[in-house]
Amino acid sequence: MSSRQPNESARFDRQSDAERDRLEQENRALRETMKQNDRDRVEYLQNVSHQLVSPLNAIKWHIENLTNNRVTVERGKKVLRSIYSQATLAIHLAKNFALMSNLEGDYALRALREALEPVEVERLLVNLADDYQPLAWDQDITIGVERGVGVMPDVLAMKALISQVFSNIIENAVKYSRRGTTIRIWTEFNSRLDEVSAFVANTGIRLRPEDCNRIFERGFRSQEAQNAYPAGTGFGLYIAQKIVDLHEGCIDASTDKSGETVFRVTLTVRGLEGKARQWDKRPSS
Ligand SMILES: Nc1ncnc2c1ncn2[C@@H]1O[C@H](COP(=O)(O)OP(=O)(O)O)[C@@H](O)[C@H]1O
Ligand SMILES: [Mg+2]
Repeated sequence: MSSRQPNESARFDRQSDAERDRLEQENRALRETMKQNDRDRVEYLQNVSHQLVSPLNAIKWHIENLTNNRVTVERGKKVLRSIYSQATLAIHLAKNFALMSNLEGDYALRALREALEPVEVERLLVNLADDYQPLAWDQDITIGVERGVGVMPDVLAMKALISQVFSNIIENAVKYSRRGTTIRIWTEFNSRLDEVSAFVANTGIRLRPEDCNRIFERGFRSQEAQNAYPAGTGFGLYIAQKIVDLHEGCIDASTDKSGETVFRVTLTVRGLEGKARQWDKRPSS
Protein backbone atom coordinates (compact mmCIF):
# COMPACT_ATOMS: atom_id res chain seq x y z
CA MET A 1 0.00 0.00 0.00
CA SER A 2 1.31 3.43 -0.87
CA SER A 3 1.71 6.03 1.83
CA ARG A 4 2.04 8.82 -0.78
CA GLN A 5 -0.25 11.85 -0.60
CA PRO A 6 -2.45 12.57 -3.71
CA ASN A 7 -0.25 15.52 -4.86
CA GLU A 8 2.86 13.53 -4.51
CA SER A 9 1.30 10.63 -6.32
CA ALA A 10 0.31 12.82 -9.32
CA ARG A 11 3.86 14.17 -9.49
CA PHE A 12 5.20 10.63 -9.38
CA ASP A 13 2.89 9.60 -12.25
CA ARG A 14 4.00 12.60 -14.32
CA GLN A 15 7.63 11.70 -13.69
CA SER A 16 7.15 8.09 -14.67
CA ASP A 17 5.25 9.18 -17.82
CA ALA A 18 8.15 11.42 -18.75
CA GLU A 19 10.59 8.63 -18.04
CA ARG A 20 8.55 6.20 -20.14
CA ASP A 21 8.45 8.70 -23.05
CA ARG A 22 12.19 9.16 -22.83
CA LEU A 23 12.82 5.41 -22.83
CA GLU A 24 10.45 4.91 -25.76
CA GLN A 25 12.25 7.61 -27.69
CA GLU A 26 15.60 6.01 -26.95
CA ASN A 27 14.22 2.67 -27.96
CA ARG A 28 12.92 4.06 -31.29
CA ALA A 29 16.28 5.70 -32.00
CA LEU A 30 18.12 2.44 -31.24
CA ARG A 31 15.79 0.45 -33.48
CA GLU A 32 16.36 2.98 -36.29
CA THR A 33 20.15 2.72 -35.85
CA MET A 34 19.93 -1.08 -35.97
CA LYS A 35 17.84 -0.93 -39.14
CA GLN A 36 20.34 1.46 -40.71
CA ASN A 37 23.20 -0.88 -39.72
CA ASP A 38 21.39 -3.78 -41.36
CA ARG A 39 20.84 -1.73 -44.52
CA ASP A 40 24.55 -0.73 -44.55
CA ARG A 41 25.60 -4.34 -44.07
CA VAL A 42 23.43 -5.57 -46.95
CA GLU A 43 24.70 -2.77 -49.18
CA TYR A 44 28.28 -3.56 -48.19
CA LEU A 45 27.89 -7.28 -48.94
CA GLN A 46 26.29 -6.52 -52.29
CA ASN A 47 29.16 -4.17 -53.06
CA VAL A 48 31.69 -6.83 -52.02
CA SER A 49 30.15 -9.54 -54.14
CA HIS A 50 29.73 -7.20 -57.11
CA GLN A 51 33.37 -6.17 -56.94
CA LEU A 52 34.64 -9.72 -56.54
CA VAL A 53 32.47 -11.12 -59.29
CA SER A 54 33.79 -8.81 -61.97
CA PRO A 55 37.46 -9.94 -61.97
CA LEU A 56 36.33 -13.57 -61.57
CA ASN A 57 33.98 -13.22 -64.54
CA ALA A 58 36.76 -11.65 -66.57
CA ILE A 59 39.05 -14.61 -65.73
CA LYS A 60 36.35 -17.07 -66.74
CA TRP A 61 35.75 -15.24 -70.00
CA HIS A 62 39.48 -15.16 -70.83
CA ILE A 63 39.81 -18.90 -70.14
CA GLU A 64 36.80 -19.59 -72.35
CA ASN A 65 38.51 -17.61 -75.09
CA LEU A 66 41.71 -19.57 -74.68
CA THR A 67 39.98 -22.95 -74.78
CA ASN A 68 37.28 -22.35 -77.41
CA ASN A 69 39.09 -20.39 -80.08
CA ARG A 70 42.25 -20.79 -81.96
CA VAL A 71 44.39 -18.05 -80.44
CA THR A 72 47.72 -16.96 -81.76
CA VAL A 73 50.70 -17.22 -79.40
CA GLU A 74 50.89 -13.43 -79.18
CA ARG A 75 47.18 -13.10 -78.37
CA GLY A 76 47.48 -15.99 -75.93
CA LYS A 77 50.19 -14.15 -74.01
CA LYS A 78 47.98 -11.09 -73.78
CA VAL A 79 45.06 -13.13 -72.51
CA LEU A 80 47.25 -14.80 -69.87
CA ARG A 81 48.49 -11.37 -68.80
CA SER A 82 44.89 -10.25 -68.32
CA ILE A 83 44.09 -13.38 -66.32
CA TYR A 84 47.07 -12.58 -64.09
CA SER A 85 45.98 -8.98 -63.52
CA GLN A 86 42.37 -9.89 -62.81
CA ALA A 87 43.53 -12.55 -60.33
CA THR A 88 45.76 -9.93 -58.66
CA LEU A 89 42.71 -7.72 -58.30
CA ALA A 90 40.51 -10.51 -56.92
CA ILE A 91 43.15 -11.43 -54.31
CA HIS A 92 43.59 -7.76 -53.39
CA LEU A 93 39.83 -7.30 -52.91
CA ALA A 94 39.42 -10.52 -50.93
CA LYS A 95 42.22 -9.48 -48.55
CA ASN A 96 40.63 -6.07 -48.04
CA PHE A 97 37.27 -7.62 -47.27
CA ALA A 98 38.82 -9.95 -44.70
CA LEU A 99 40.55 -6.98 -43.05
CA MET A 100 37.37 -4.94 -43.17
CA SER A 101 35.32 -7.64 -41.43
CA ASN A 102 37.95 -7.69 -38.69
CA LEU A 103 37.66 -3.95 -38.24
CA GLU A 104 33.87 -3.91 -38.48
CA GLY A 105 33.48 -6.82 -36.08
CA ASP A 106 35.20 -4.61 -33.55
CA TYR A 107 37.90 -7.18 -33.01
CA ALA A 108 39.60 -4.02 -34.13
CA LEU A 109 43.28 -4.11 -34.46
CA ARG A 110 44.23 -6.73 -31.95
CA ALA A 111 42.89 -9.49 -34.17
CA LEU A 112 45.07 -8.19 -36.99
CA ARG A 113 48.28 -8.48 -35.06
CA GLU A 114 50.81 -10.89 -36.38
CA ALA A 115 54.53 -11.41 -35.91
CA LEU A 116 56.83 -8.53 -36.74
CA GLU A 117 59.60 -9.22 -39.22
CA PRO A 118 62.24 -7.16 -41.01
CA VAL A 119 60.70 -5.88 -44.23
CA GLU A 120 62.68 -4.53 -47.17
CA VAL A 121 60.24 -1.84 -48.22
CA GLU A 122 61.79 -1.17 -51.62
CA ARG A 123 61.68 -4.84 -52.60
CA LEU A 124 58.06 -5.07 -51.44
CA LEU A 125 57.20 -2.12 -53.68
CA VAL A 126 59.05 -3.62 -56.66
CA ASN A 127 57.08 -6.87 -56.24
CA LEU A 128 53.77 -5.03 -55.97
CA ALA A 129 54.62 -2.88 -59.00
CA ASP A 130 55.28 -6.11 -60.95
CA ASP A 131 51.93 -7.47 -59.78
CA TYR A 132 50.01 -4.39 -60.88
CA GLN A 133 51.92 -3.64 -64.09
CA PRO A 134 49.81 -5.92 -66.32
CA LEU A 135 46.65 -4.21 -65.08
CA ALA A 136 48.24 -0.82 -65.68
CA TRP A 137 49.34 -1.75 -69.21
CA ASP A 138 45.70 -2.26 -70.11
CA GLN A 139 45.36 1.51 -69.62
CA ASP A 140 48.71 2.37 -71.14
CA ILE A 141 50.08 3.24 -67.70
CA THR A 142 53.65 2.49 -66.64
CA ILE A 143 54.69 1.84 -63.05
CA GLY A 144 58.27 2.84 -62.34
CA VAL A 145 60.10 2.15 -59.08
CA GLU A 146 63.03 4.52 -58.70
CA ARG A 147 65.72 2.53 -56.91
CA GLY A 148 67.29 4.51 -54.07
CA VAL A 149 70.99 4.91 -53.54
CA GLY A 150 72.70 4.47 -50.19
CA VAL A 151 71.60 2.61 -47.10
CA MET A 152 67.98 1.60 -46.83
CA PRO A 153 67.41 -0.37 -43.64
CA ASP A 154 64.67 -2.95 -43.25
CA VAL A 155 61.63 -1.89 -41.25
CA LEU A 156 60.24 -4.04 -38.46
CA ALA A 157 56.65 -4.61 -39.53
CA MET A 158 53.81 -7.05 -40.10
CA LYS A 159 54.65 -7.85 -43.69
CA ALA A 160 51.28 -9.03 -45.03
CA LEU A 161 49.53 -6.00 -43.54
CA ILE A 162 52.08 -3.45 -44.74
CA SER A 163 51.92 -5.08 -48.15
CA GLN A 164 48.15 -4.49 -48.17
CA VAL A 165 48.70 -0.79 -47.36
CA PHE A 166 50.85 -0.36 -50.48
CA SER A 167 48.57 -2.60 -52.50
CA ASN A 168 45.66 -0.28 -51.66
CA ILE A 169 47.64 2.82 -52.62
CA ILE A 170 49.04 1.37 -55.86
CA GLU A 171 45.68 -0.10 -56.89
CA ASN A 172 44.16 3.37 -56.46
CA ALA A 173 46.99 4.93 -58.47
CA VAL A 174 46.31 2.50 -61.35
CA LYS A 175 42.54 3.00 -61.10
CA TYR A 176 42.60 6.79 -60.93
CA SER A 177 45.52 7.61 -63.29
CA ARG A 178 45.06 9.16 -66.68
CA ARG A 179 45.85 6.93 -69.67
CA GLY A 180 49.40 7.17 -70.90
CA THR A 181 50.86 8.44 -67.62
CA THR A 182 53.53 7.01 -65.32
CA ILE A 183 53.12 6.06 -61.67
CA ARG A 184 56.32 6.88 -59.80
CA ILE A 185 57.30 5.00 -56.67
CA TRP A 186 60.35 5.68 -54.52
CA THR A 187 61.65 5.35 -50.96
CA GLU A 188 63.71 7.62 -48.71
CA PHE A 189 65.57 6.94 -45.48
CA ASN A 190 65.87 9.64 -42.83
CA SER A 191 68.76 8.49 -40.67
CA ARG A 192 68.26 11.27 -38.11
CA LEU A 193 64.70 10.15 -37.37
CA ASP A 194 65.40 6.50 -38.19
CA GLU A 195 62.44 6.46 -40.57
CA VAL A 196 61.77 4.99 -43.98
CA SER A 197 59.22 6.75 -46.17
CA ALA A 198 57.64 5.29 -49.29
CA PHE A 199 56.05 7.52 -51.93
CA VAL A 200 53.55 6.71 -54.67
CA ALA A 201 52.84 9.54 -57.12
CA ASN A 202 50.37 9.55 -59.99
CA THR A 203 48.50 11.93 -62.26
CA GLY A 204 44.84 11.47 -62.99
CA ILE A 205 41.57 12.42 -61.33
CA ARG A 206 41.81 15.50 -59.18
CA LEU A 207 42.35 15.16 -55.45
CA ARG A 208 41.10 18.39 -53.88
CA PRO A 209 43.38 19.73 -51.13
CA GLU A 210 40.36 19.83 -48.79
CA ASP A 211 39.82 16.09 -49.36
CA CYS A 212 43.39 15.07 -48.48
CA ASN A 213 42.31 14.10 -44.94
CA ARG A 214 38.77 12.98 -45.73
CA ILE A 215 39.94 10.23 -48.10
CA PHE A 216 41.05 8.21 -45.05
CA GLU A 217 37.54 8.27 -43.58
CA ARG A 218 35.55 5.06 -43.78
CA GLY A 219 33.53 5.00 -46.98
CA PHE A 220 34.59 8.39 -48.33
CA ARG A 221 34.81 8.60 -52.15
CA SER A 222 35.20 11.87 -54.02
CA GLN A 223 32.73 12.74 -56.76
CA GLU A 224 35.58 12.52 -59.30
CA ALA A 225 36.39 8.97 -58.13
CA GLN A 226 32.73 7.93 -58.32
CA ASN A 227 32.48 9.26 -61.87
CA ALA A 228 35.72 7.67 -63.03
CA TYR A 229 35.20 4.33 -61.34
CA PRO A 230 31.68 3.67 -60.04
CA ALA A 231 32.52 0.36 -58.29
CA GLY A 232 34.33 1.13 -55.06
CA THR A 233 33.86 0.96 -51.31
CA GLY A 234 35.94 3.83 -49.97
CA PHE A 235 37.50 1.36 -47.53
CA GLY A 236 40.98 0.97 -49.02
CA LEU A 237 42.59 4.03 -47.45
CA TYR A 238 40.64 3.62 -44.21
CA ILE A 239 42.15 0.13 -43.86
CA ALA A 240 45.56 1.47 -44.87
CA GLN A 241 45.44 4.13 -42.17
CA LYS A 242 44.39 1.62 -39.49
CA ILE A 243 47.32 -0.64 -40.39
CA VAL A 244 49.79 2.24 -40.45
CA ASP A 245 48.45 3.43 -37.06
CA LEU A 246 49.02 -0.05 -35.71
CA HIS A 247 52.66 0.35 -36.76
CA GLU A 248 52.75 3.79 -35.16
CA GLY A 249 53.62 5.26 -38.53
CA CYS A 250 52.10 8.03 -40.66
CA ILE A 251 50.20 8.05 -43.91
CA ASP A 252 49.18 11.16 -45.82
CA ALA A 253 48.30 12.45 -49.25
CA SER A 254 49.13 15.69 -50.97
CA THR A 255 48.48 17.26 -54.30
CA ASP A 256 50.10 20.09 -56.23
CA LYS A 257 49.21 22.51 -59.02
CA SER A 258 50.54 20.14 -61.70
CA GLY A 259 47.77 17.73 -60.66
CA GLU A 260 50.13 15.09 -59.29
CA THR A 261 48.85 13.21 -56.24
CA VAL A 262 51.46 11.88 -53.82
CA PHE A 263 50.82 9.30 -51.10
CA ARG A 264 53.46 8.95 -48.40
CA VAL A 265 53.81 6.21 -45.80
CA THR A 266 56.41 6.67 -43.08
CA LEU A 267 57.48 3.86 -40.76
CA THR A 268 60.08 3.93 -38.03
CA VAL A 269 62.85 1.42 -38.55
CA ARG A 270 63.05 0.14 -35.00
CA GLY A 271 59.95 1.80 -33.58
CA LEU A 272 58.18 -1.42 -32.70
CA GLU A 273 61.19 -3.39 -31.49
CA GLY A 274 60.42 -3.27 -27.77
CA LYS A 275 56.68 -3.55 -28.27
CA ALA A 276 56.66 -6.87 -30.07
CA ARG A 277 57.18 -8.75 -26.82
CA GLN A 278 54.50 -6.70 -25.00
CA TRP A 279 51.95 -7.62 -27.65
CA ASP A 280 52.81 -11.31 -27.43
CA LYS A 281 52.06 -11.26 -23.70
CA ARG A 282 48.51 -9.96 -24.08
CA PRO A 283 45.87 -12.63 -23.65
CA SER A 284 43.92 -13.32 -26.81
CA SER A 285 40.17 -13.13 -26.42
N1 LIG B 1 45.59 8.25 -56.53
C1 LIG B 1 44.52 8.95 -56.24
N2 LIG B 1 44.23 10.09 -56.92
C2 LIG B 1 43.13 10.82 -56.62
N3 LIG B 1 42.23 10.50 -55.66
C3 LIG B 1 42.48 9.36 -54.96
C4 LIG B 1 43.61 8.55 -55.20
N4 LIG B 1 43.58 7.52 -54.33
C5 LIG B 1 42.49 7.68 -53.58
N5 LIG B 1 41.80 8.77 -53.97
C6 LIG B 1 40.55 9.28 -53.36
O1 LIG B 1 40.37 8.65 -52.10
C7 LIG B 1 39.10 7.97 -52.06
C8 LIG B 1 39.17 6.78 -51.13
O2 LIG B 1 40.01 5.77 -51.64
P1 LIG B 1 39.77 4.27 -51.19
O3 LIG B 1 39.59 4.28 -49.72
O4 LIG B 1 40.85 3.42 -51.75
O5 LIG B 1 38.35 3.89 -51.80
P2 LIG B 1 37.91 3.54 -53.32
O6 LIG B 1 39.14 3.29 -54.13
O7 LIG B 1 37.05 2.33 -53.17
O8 LIG B 1 37.14 4.73 -53.78
C9 LIG B 1 38.83 7.63 -53.52
O9 LIG B 1 37.47 7.38 -53.75
C10 LIG B 1 39.32 8.91 -54.19
O10 LIG B 1 38.35 9.94 -54.04
MG1 LIG C 1 40.72 2.02 -53.35
